[in-house]
Amino acid sequence: MAGTDLQTQVAIIGAGPAGMLLSHLLAADGIESMVLETRSEEYVASRIRAGILEQSTVDLLRGCGLGERLDREGDRHRGIYLQWPGHRHHIDFVDLTGRSVWVYGQTEVQKDLIEARNAAGQEMHYEIADTALHDVETDRPCVTFTDTQGRERVVKAEVVVGCDGSFGPSREHIPMDVRRHWERVYPYSWFGILADVAPSTDELIYAWHSDGFALHSMRSASVSRFYLQVPNDTEPDWSDDRIWEALAARLGHGQDGWALVTGRITDKSVLPMRSFVQTPMRHGRLFLAGDAAHIVPPTGAKGLNLAVADVALLAPALAELIRKDDHRLADSYSETALRRVWRCTHFSWWMTTMLHRGEDPFDEQLQLSQLRWVTSSVAGATGLAENYAGLPIGL
Ligand code: FAD
Ligand code: PHB
Repeated sequence: MAGTDLQTQVAIIGAGPAGMLLSHLLAADGIESMVLETRSEEYVASRIRAGILEQSTVDLLRGCGLGERLDREGDRHRGIYLQWPGHRHHIDFVDLTGRSVWVYGQTEVQKDLIEARNAAGQEMHYEIADTALHDVETDRPCVTFTDTQGRERVVKAEVVVGCDGSFGPSREHIPMDVRRHWERVYPYSWFGILADVAPSTDELIYAWHSDGFALHSMRSASVSRFYLQVPNDTEPDWSDDRIWEALAARLGHGQDGWALVTGRITDKSVLPMRSFVQTPMRHGRLFLAGDAAHIVPPTGAKGLNLAVADVALLAPALAELIRKDDHRLADSYSETALRRVWRCTHFSWWMTTMLHRGEDPFDEQLQLSQLRWVTSSVAGATGLAENYAGLPIGL
């Protein structure tokens, strides 16, 4: 293998939240890592994605020195609203479970991580190409890539971690006869809208509607985030008027005096919905974390939180492996992480199928019955609250 050699303890592929947080946690444990990323730092820092942090994510970020801006700018929410035409109910997570959630965009988490890693002198390689993994079944795995000057580079490591999201090469590097996956593709997508307008609600509204699901979320006191259920392959080219009309109808503008305030739309995008889990999350000296191993539809607000939970388990496991040659936590990583992954996979599927409009009138009546039960029974509401606000890491 020709090329300029680089050396590190942990080669991390992907500078999303999983990869960057892992490098941060490892550094706190005295373990050196190198992060390899195809995109530029600016691109990674400005991607608009998830918006909700679970209690355990917030606790972890605070505990590793990343909570300062989150505490200043993040907005703690007690719960969410669930609604269908003529009905809006608040589910209070704090009353039901003692836990809450925070509105603090993934973009902000990502910026905090980049700032912290840059301040610590973390070795990063952005805008790389041709990422390839080698020798993960040995004690000397390595990653090759082409750098911005077109040179082939080789990173020799003790461990390789695939944090390269849903399209990266790590997941498929696990041999076909070892890996297994489960998948559900949904027949609808989310049209995501960002707007310069104060939220018309104090907490998120998840709305069932016969035109399709809608979500009113937010990023700050002056920025709102909305989603509309749309058919797959919809182009994000709707006019602003069409978007506001659809949101007003589905979110119940005019009902009980509630009004949706409109504003300047600054971003429109369409995201497909998928559930996907690949096992095992470890093969030899290759470990997978975050979207590289599992994808959930965003209805349960779990994607980012699951990525954080994975690396919270993985960092101490790698530290024990590398520093003490103690394999126990590394050996149990996949099984432990997958317990939470499947819980969140079920919850995200459950929220998705309860709230999205399908073709079948029988399903529609079941959805409405489910919504009535969840909003009127303490047992039903507590189940939703416990899952949405999130279980402590490690459970
Ligand atoms: P990612 O954030 O995807 O990071 C992976 C990184 O690996 C990327 O930076 C990528 O460029 C890099 N990479 C890929 N291939 C290579 C390679 N070959 N070499 C080097 N680097 C590579 N979740 C929600 O809960 N709510 C939402 O509203 C929501 N919206 C989303 C919108 C979109 C468009 C997407 C894609 C995801 C969304 N998610 C949402 C999910 C959530 O953002 C993810 O679960 C979260 O980003 C997972 O973090 P990660 O670090 O595992 O993966
Ligand atoms: C968001 O604000 O982007 C968001 C919030 C809740 C979700 C999904 C996305 O369930």
